[in-house]
Amino acid sequence: MRQRSAVNHAVNHAVIPASDTTAGRGDVDEGPHPGTDALLQQLQRAPVPRHIAIIMDGNGRWARERHMPRPFGHRAGMKAVRAVVEASIAAGVEWLSLFAFSQENWQRPQPEISALMSLLEEYINSELRELREQGVRIRVHGDLSRLNGAAARAVERAVAETAHCTRLGLNLFISYGGRAELVRAMRAMAADVHAGVLHPDQIDEHAIRARLYTLDCPDPDLLIRTSGEQRLSNFMLWQVAYAELYISGVLWPDFDRMALFEAILDFQRRDRRFGRVDT
Ligand code: FPP
Repeated sequence: MRQRSAVNHAVNHAVIPASDTTAGRGDVDEGPHPGTDALLQQLQRAPVPRHIAIIMDGNGRWARERHMPRPFGHRAGMKAVRAVVEASIAAGVEWLSLFAFSQENWQRPQPEISALMSLLEEYINSELRELREQGVRIRVHGDLSRLNGAAARAVERAVAETAHCTRLGLNLFISYGGRAELVRAMRAMAADVHAGVLHPDQIDEHAIRARLYTLDCPDPDLLIRTSGEQRLSNFMLWQVAYAELYISGVLWPDFDRMALFEAILDFQRRDRRFGRVDT
């Protein structure tokens, strides 16, 4: 059956989010997943998105609802990262891209920035071994020159120690902006033209893609944003050109295994035509 357009469909989800029933579940499921096994079986009957990108939003509101400071929400958000990584592996997703810290986030109050940087370090230090055992290859993209020494070292270690892993590619976008990524690619191209290794006639989509952070991974098939906001917020601007949008009303710390599976099932009901018509 032909679905509504992707955007309308996504907006309808923002009004009555399918995942609203998941609100309130925050902790990571451990061991068997009786509540989601049926959903997992269901989604495995159709192709799953190869690459899912997520704008994790709503940590602050989640904390405010509990009369707690914002870093409390970020810490809960870290647990949701764990749940979603595990669920992605279970579903057979090949790439997961998470927007963890934007360029604009540097303008937040210093204590919140410090809390986020410490959480990044903590996430890597506490999860790295398990991520490696699960076959997760970590990549970190963005202006990493702005990270403090400890966070930068943790990132370096995570990338180096998982470089051989092949089950799930986990792209963490930190200190990242989509326009800045494009500027970086254009500068690299200009330098190559200047050096005589690239002719202006060779500048095409392929040449641009080859200079993005995500040069060796497919574009996201599905872009999820949590907390009901309906913006791209400068995330993967080039790469999401044909991604299906899924707006979930769930605040990020409550986004769990079931919420991810619901998003994948919704994706599988879409009619992706990439500008073509059905024949
Ligand atoms: C947006 O919520 C979320 C962030 C700016 C940070 C995301 C960070 C995490 C999920 C935790 C750490 C992640 C890793 C990978 C270790 P917001 O603060 O803008 O929420 P609000 O819109 O409700 O204020």
